[in-house]
Amino acid sequence: MSFRTLHDRGVIARYRAFLPVTETTPVVSLNEGSTPLIHSPKLSAKVGRNCQVFIKYEGLNPTGSFKDRGMTLAISKAVERGAQAVICASTGNTSAAAAAYAARASITCIVLLPAGKISFGKLAQAFVYGAKVVAIDGNFDDALRLVREIGETEPIAVVNSINPDRLQGQKTASFEIIEELGDAPDVHILPVGNAGNISAYWMGYEEFLGLGRSKKNPVMLGFQAAGSAPIFHKRIIEAPETVATAIRIGNPASWDKANEAIAKSGGAIDIVTDAEILAAQYWLASNEGIFVEPASAASIAGLLKSLDPASGRAYEANRFPEGSKIVCTVTGHGLKDPDVVKDLCGSVIPAKAERSEILRLIGQ
Ligand code: F0G
Repeated sequence: MSFRTLHDRGVIARYRAFLPVTETTPVVSLNEGSTPLIHSPKLSAKVGRNCQVFIKYEGLNPTGSFKDRGMTLAISKAVERGAQAVICASTGNTSAAAAAYAARASITCIVLLPAGKISFGKLAQAFVYGAKVVAIDGNFDDALRLVREIGETEPIAVVNSINPDRLQGQKTASFEIIEELGDAPDVHILPVGNAGNISAYWMGYEEFLGLGRSKKNPVMLGFQAAGSAPIFHKRIIEAPETVATAIRIGNPASWDKANEAIAKSGGAIDIVTDAEILAAQYWLASNEGIFVEPASAASIAGLLKSLDPASGRAYEANRFPEGSKIVCTVTGHGLKDPDVVKDLCGSVIPAKAERSEILRLIGQ
């Protein structure tokens, strides 16, 4: 028996007409999507010229990242095709989403992770959702190569973004933004790792423009971590490194699609350093109350870089038209990786449990 509730609004329910599903597709959903688009007065002021900046807060999906949008579709379609098991390579968020949706579908989930390079929060998710967790002696790119090989010979469905169902689900974020703003934004900024998400957003924008549901496409600006920037450098990075482990990727699967989105939209790909990423993460949390994981902060760091004439930026923010609407996608929740901010947590103020002492210590 299936119960529908007021909140039964996953991305398949909301955008069924635009997705490759039929009446008989078994929908595996955790009510993902419909995430907040939060106006940022402080970033808007930094950009100036009446521009308005909005944060698409994808950390509020059920497993804490945008991956749930693609995973609802990938798992639903895999179940429709009779899969008993799914597999993915991951830097942590895809594996969390795959494990959760596979649990809900009562099928087996196997995740291949780069050993020692997954934040503890994400690793905990894979285990608690009941996945078989394999930590390989290699990086994400090695894991994805192995997953492709296994998917060719074994009866196990691959749910990485090389599975087209994933990008179909992820494109729904563009639909939501268009519906909320009444049109596509002028500029869309997001972090880039395996390059599926920038490709999916572009697909969504193109689709709604083609259907007359929007009047323009945004300029797409993608940001890679400086130590993991194959698209920016136009070459495979054999040993990618960055504090933003989610985007520690040297050979992105959707490289060509990302280049197409950037070229067709008149956008750019650029890099941000680990220091810029961590500064942006802290800035966003302490100024706008939005705590995101480091990879997600690459979009905010990227916007700030585009504003700075001394930064060597690939795209100058003064090219944004006056009054532009700018959307930054922040892809995953900050609580996924609290270790990265532990240095900030060292300065607690020790006190006796006495009112007068506390008032003295807080300067009252
Ligand atoms: N931000 C976060 C939080 C991510 O987890 C990822 C990718 C990205 C950005 C980049 O998106 O790969 O579509 O360009 N994480 C993948 C994973 C690789 O395994 O969870 P992309």
